[in-house]
Amino acid sequence: MKKFFIAAVPLAAVLALGGCSSTPERPTSDTSSLIVINSLSEPNASDSRNNSSSDASGVQANVSFSGDRVITENRTVAEGQVLTVRNGETLYINDGAEFTVDGGIAVENGGSIKVRSGGSLLLNGKMTLDGGLELGGFLGIREKGEINGAGLLTVLNSFDDIDCKGTCKAKIKAPEPVEKDGVTYVGGVLIVNKKYSVPEDYGEELGLVIDEAYDQLLKMREDTGFDMPLVSGYRSYWTQDDLFNYYCEIDDYDKVVMYSAEPGHSEHQTGLAMDLGQITEDYVNTEEGGWLTDNCHKYGFIIRYPKGCEKKTGYDYEPWHVRWLGESTARLVRDSGLTLEEFLGVEAM
Ligand code: DAL
Ligand code: ZN
Repeated sequence: MKKFFIAAVPLAAVLALGGCSSTPERPTSDTSSLIVINSLSEPNASDSRNNSSSDASGVQANVSFSGDRVITENRTVAEGQVLTVRNGETLYINDGAEFTVDGGIAVENGGSIKVRSGGSLLLNGKMTLDGGLELGGFLGIREKGEINGAGLLTVLNSFDDIDCKGTCKAKIKAPEPVEKDGVTYVGGVLIVNKKYSVPEDYGEELGLVIDEAYDQLLKMREDTGFDMPLVSGYRSYWTQDDLFNYYCEIDDYDKVVMYSAEPGHSEHQTGLAMDLGQITEDYVNTEEGGWLTDNCHKYGFIIRYPKGCEKKTGYDYEPWHVRWLGESTARLVRDSGLTLEEFLGVEAM
């Protein structure tokens, strides 16, 4: 009797039974009621219960669901399948659960995915993000993984929670800036510019540049055969002070502030920046400088003061000045097409 009753209820009504909760953050529920569709070729697949089936391997996916769902254990959207999170729906990925997307996932405007602390979303396929993706856990965008769409990826804690080896074209909202010992970080990214400074004694223990950045410089040289001389790495507060004052003696102040940072405001004091090659705008027109602009993100760097962004960064174009961010974050910044300040949502001056 019970079986007959359920089968007789239209799918929309069945799904609605497990629909939106008035307490959306509820910790329980699972994917058992997700409908498994094995083919995307059915035009009305999500409207026909006859197309539903379970996968004995434990792999589950569906083309749509209604209401909130909580992933509590490892689940996969298999290749050839697309999961749609509709307007008003939320898919939670809980602590300890890995949600792997080998196929696709579409988050419609008004829909959202919330990766909770300890949860993981691993993207091998494509995500169309027109709604929200809130990241309190981990997001792995693998080499073929792609995020596109007009939605918003909100990073709650740190950019270290993202490992991007693929592409992310969605807009990213960074966490609020945090100040620690006079240094400002946004999602773990240290920010120094005309507005944000570092203390006078910051970086005194640093060598030429931090080890990871230097190792990647060596790798860039090895991979390309370019010399890429390191013209300037770490500069102390007082070295920057001397430089700035010297420039002010030989040039107009208004010009100087467009190419030299005041002491305490130079990225060179952090050991995260390097001047490579030649200190001239024409460097970008050399094979080496052109390669650096086009490829440095693959090694964890960005061109910190891009061409045409003088009003956004506060500095003239510097095709030689690279800033270490790590490979994943450098890719995200590069994919965004934004300056570092725009990407982090902080002021430049
Ligand atoms: N040339 C850059 C802006 C610096 O002095 O740090
Ligand atoms: Zn520089």
